[in-house]
Amino acid sequence: MNFVSENLGVNEQGHLTIGGVDVLTLKEKYGTPLYVMDEDMIRTHLRTYRDALNTYYNGNGLAQFASKAFCTKYMCSIVAEEGLGLDVVSGGELYTALSAQFPADKICFHGNNKTKDELTFAIGHDVGTIVVDNIYELEQIDIIAAKLGKVQNVIFRIKPGIDAHTHDFIMTGQIDSKFGFALETGEALSAVEAVKDKKNICYKGLHCHIGSQIFDVDPFRETAKVMMAFIKEIKDSLDLDTEELDLGGGFGIRYVESDDPISYDLYIKAVSEEVKAQAEALDISVPKILMEPGRSIVAPAGITVYEVGCVKEIPNIRTYVSVDGGMADNPRYIMYGAEYSAVLANKADKTSDCTYTVAGKCCESGDILIENAKLPKVEVGDTLCVLATGAYNYSMASNYNRIPRPAVVMVSGGQDKLVVKRETYEDVIKNDL
Ligand code: LLP
Repeated sequence: MNFVSENLGVNEQGHLTIGGVDVLTLKEKYGTPLYVMDEDMIRTHLRTYRDALNTYYNGNGLAQFASKAFCTKYMCSIVAEEGLGLDVVSGGELYTALSAQFPADKICFHGNNKTKDELTFAIGHDVGTIVVDNIYELEQIDIIAAKLGKVQNVIFRIKPGIDAHTHDFIMTGQIDSKFGFALETGEALSAVEAVKDKKNICYKGLHCHIGSQIFDVDPFRETAKVMMAFIKEIKDSLDLDTEELDLGGGFGIRYVESDDPISYDLYIKAVSEEVKAQAEALDISVPKILMEPGRSIVAPAGITVYEVGCVKEIPNIRTYVSVDGGMADNPRYIMYGAEYSAVLANKADKTSDCTYTVAGKCCESGDILIENAKLPKVEVGDTLCVLATGAYNYSMASNYNRIPRPAVVMVSGGQDKLVVKRETYEDVIKNDL
């Protein structure tokens, strides 16, 4: 059997396995819908990034997991154990990380509108780096750091002008973005200059992120080139050294057979060559390289397990298979028209020769998980798994229709472990007065 993620298999009973564990056993034990994540695969991905950065930048690099992809205390502790950093974008993600004893100096705090409370929380807890998005924030950081008697390390979020979503990327495409400072207008240079008279801020470097689910190396290489040129400009016109260059995340993964992701190792190699070549050509030193992969670390490691509740054939149009979850646990189809693959866990050895529309249980016509899903003949009670749901599913889940969020289970070395409890109806109403 060929599945989109290599950690999936079929056992002697014809059941789907994840990390060697029978999915039907997990269904029996924890119920559905259920997020299942393969911890061993997550660790392998974390190590791939860590080792590639060590290899290509002689240890002068750090991958920071973008926790927006999947943020729980347990995940934060895995990242800490593997020695990576963490990218957080809100007080809530930061709180989760600190609750898991994640080392604050390896946390990088993002966001285009961090509140004063969030900044105070972050600076007060000695967060390693704040990524400055706008000039108002720069002022705020200086004021808050002064009040707390601290000097805060910052890097500046730059729009490098690379549109990674078109095949022939266009240099000015991304100026229209709510994130960061534009290069073309001179805004970015003035922002970095403004740091010079801020006593409680220490300039460390630059950040950029060109998009997500990208399969091509070239936009990343091009971005590295643009950023190195800006580092040179900062040196020449402001006499400031740039120690760190954060190149963001965005590496694509396989959701469906036709997706063709690049190897992360190759990507890091290509970008490292570009950064080093530019450093030499421009006569500047090679900065420490930071990266923020999210999806590529967790997405392939996760599946969502559902039970089929009804099969509805509309002659000559389509057959709907409705499952006991949907857009509340995976809003990516309704938000982006995202594509996924599915498997019937109890018929994983059967040929997928039927076509279905997999629908959720929310009161919303657009609550679809997959259109044209190829599956064996589906019957009520079957266990349907949507694959590669480890990123931006649990983290984007809601209580729409007052549906409690599913539990999250990790599997490792053939054992399972509950890492997030299933919400109850009581949880859903707990803040109602
Ligand atoms: N760094 C920054 C500054 C980002 O904005 C993002 C993603 C990442 C890193 C991680 O990117 P990744 O490696 O995961 O592609 N909810 C959408 C994805 C939004 C991504 C936003 N930023 C989805 O479900 O596809």
